[in-house]
Amino acid sequence: MKTALIIAIDGPSGAGKSSSSRQLAARLGYRYIDTGALYRIIGLLAWERHISPDDGEGLAALCHDLPLHFVSEPTGVRIVLGERDITTAIRQPEVSQMASKVSAQPAVRQALLTLQRQMGQDGGVVLEGRDIGTVVFPNADVKFFLEASAEERGQRRYRELQQQGVSTTLEATLREMAERDQRDSERAHAPLRCADDAIVVDSTTLSLDEVVRLLLQHVAAVRKC
Ligand code: DC
Repeated sequence: MKTALIIAIDGPSGAGKSSSSRQLAARLGYRYIDTGALYRIIGLLAWERHISPDDGEGLAALCHDLPLHFVSEPTGVRIVLGERDITTAIRQPEVSQMASKVSAQPAVRQALLTLQRQMGQDGGVVLEGRDIGTVVFPNADVKFFLEASAEERGQRRYRELQQQGVSTTLEATLREMAERDQRDSERAHAPLRCADDAIVVDSTTLSLDEVVRLLLQHVAAVRKC
């Protein structure tokens, strides 16, 4: 039986990647790596320090020697930069847009690529992102591409933002999500794309439990190989 697999989960925003990746990792006793959080951290720092999303060099400088810690807690993973807890700050809608913009910069992608590979290379991990199965770990043991209708994804994201106390509307959420997905899919470097050998899961009409069960079935089949 294969152990310590590398599992890639890619897909557009709001497709249910975070919840299902986290649960899948917990069920397997694997580490969960949210690669979007890395782009969000750079987005947050660029936004606060007034660095333009077009300033490749300035952004790349932010990526090096990040004093970053992921702290696992029963309620989820807290993200700490230096002394500062930035778990909530990186989820703000402005930072989502900024993260998507800075992620189009090749210098940022290159710096974070190295970091992501270091974080996942020993296996026993579920990595969630946009280019895990295509670029970060093209030889991942299992690749999933999670999708859902735009309407359903918008509703989910809106509910999530409401729970976090972010003031916005469904219309604004749908608009921002569409903008972000278009930018993420159309960028020249490592765009959001379904890997040829990925298992596509449409979660539009599935509950979280049903998605996780489906993912576990596929992982179990690969482990037996
Ligand atoms: O998954 P997320 O919504 O937290 O990601 C935020 C942004 O980061 C997303 O709009 C695009 C970028 N991203 C990326 O380019 N590659 C990844 N592997 C993960 C995220």
